[in-house]
Amino acid sequence: MKVLVVGSGAREHALAWKIAGNRRLTRLYCLPGNPGMAELGELLPGDPEDIEGVATMAARLGLDLTVVGPEGPLVKGIADVFARRGLRLFGPTAAAAQLEGSKSFTRELLARLGVPGPAHKVFDDAAEAREYVAGHARPVAVKVDGLAAGKGVLIAREVDEAQAAVQSCMSQQMYGPAGSRVVIEDLLSGEEVSALALVDGRRALQLPSAQDYKRALDGDRGPNTGGMGACSPAPAYTAELAAEVQTTVFAPVVRAMYEEFDAFRGVLYAGLMLTADGPMLLEFNVRFGDPEAQVILPRLEGDLLDLMEAVLEGRLDRVNLAVRPGACVSVVLAAPGYPGEYPRHLPITGVNRASALPGVIVFHGGTARDPAGGLVTAGGRVLAVTARGDTLAAAAELAYEAAAHISFPGMQFRRDIARGTPGEGG
Ligand code: GLY
Repeated sequence: MKVLVVGSGAREHALAWKIAGNRRLTRLYCLPGNPGMAELGELLPGDPEDIEGVATMAARLGLDLTVVGPEGPLVKGIADVFARRGLRLFGPTAAAAQLEGSKSFTRELLARLGVPGPAHKVFDDAAEAREYVAGHARPVAVKVDGLAAGKGVLIAREVDEAQAAVQSCMSQQMYGPAGSRVVIEDLLSGEEVSALALVDGRRALQLPSAQDYKRALDGDRGPNTGGMGACSPAPAYTAELAAEVQTTVFAPVVRAMYEEFDAFRGVLYAGLMLTADGPMLLEFNVRFGDPEAQVILPRLEGDLLDLMEAVLEGRLDRVNLAVRPGACVSVVLAAPGYPGEYPRHLPITGVNRASALPGVIVFHGGTARDPAGGLVTAGGRVLAVTARGDTLAAAAELAYEAAAHISFPGMQFRRDIARGTPGEGG
């Protein structure tokens, strides 16, 4: 099989790494990929958001399957473009990807289906939104309706913070046109977990659970980031909770998408808050999480391409999802200043020494090669140092031992991944 992975972060490196183990794989391509992915396959130039261009490339190379990492091309309709050209792609159509592309679509669907979630209201008018928060005593999450590069969720504990959040999203459009509509949700408290499922149109098959550490600093302090680390399993997500979420979240949503909109085929990621009143849905994503993919994929025993083909062919009822016992932990090494402004082109050392440790995989996120071939930083989340172990504690120990081999100027990372509890999010 000739397979293309679209994207360039550590999630896509993890996808490429897992796919590279397939016995039927003949060629692996990555667009645009990164230096870690270059060790597994051929890098192709191109922009994932240029969905027609990616399809033209897939047709020219005679690819058997294209796997899309980020949400942008999916929400834009890359699956629809591929389908029109008779090309196979793993990921939902634009209609199904609304589950991530429009928070108001999702909230309205969930309310109608009775899926547990926070109390919320949708606003298209900034004055009405300001008036609502002025009379609302509870902390809220102000969420821009559309995609905002992971930045469009503002937590406000006081009325003036909520007013400022509405102002920046709706009036100043700091997150672009995606903010002309906002969803204002009551902030939930509890423990946040990520439940990802493969969905074949009619069925959802949950993957091993994961937990993302979103804040920049130890103890869940500091600004929100794209994720400073992850662990799998999420200890609080018991088999009983997984069964409950299957019934209260995945089953009704998958059925409604099939019957009323467009069958969802791909990975559906439910961001859940485990509250005193039971699990509640915070958000859906329509792709693997980053950094969740880095800890979920190493725990799958079976073949990812086989699973993806079962999704496309609607036969998830006939697959056996084999999961490695034990745990996996990933620690993100970030550039100085991240998630604010940060420098690039900082020389990185020690990746090979870290990767040589048994049970360790170093996924590249924001890296590049300098003209002399040396590895340098090229983004905020530079590397995801990932380790498997018999327990979360053992996996964390090994991940930190591996991370100690790596250095670049100003390197920062959390020291409590899988050693502390991520707190409330939004
Ligand atoms: N880990 C959060 C996300 O992938 O959106």
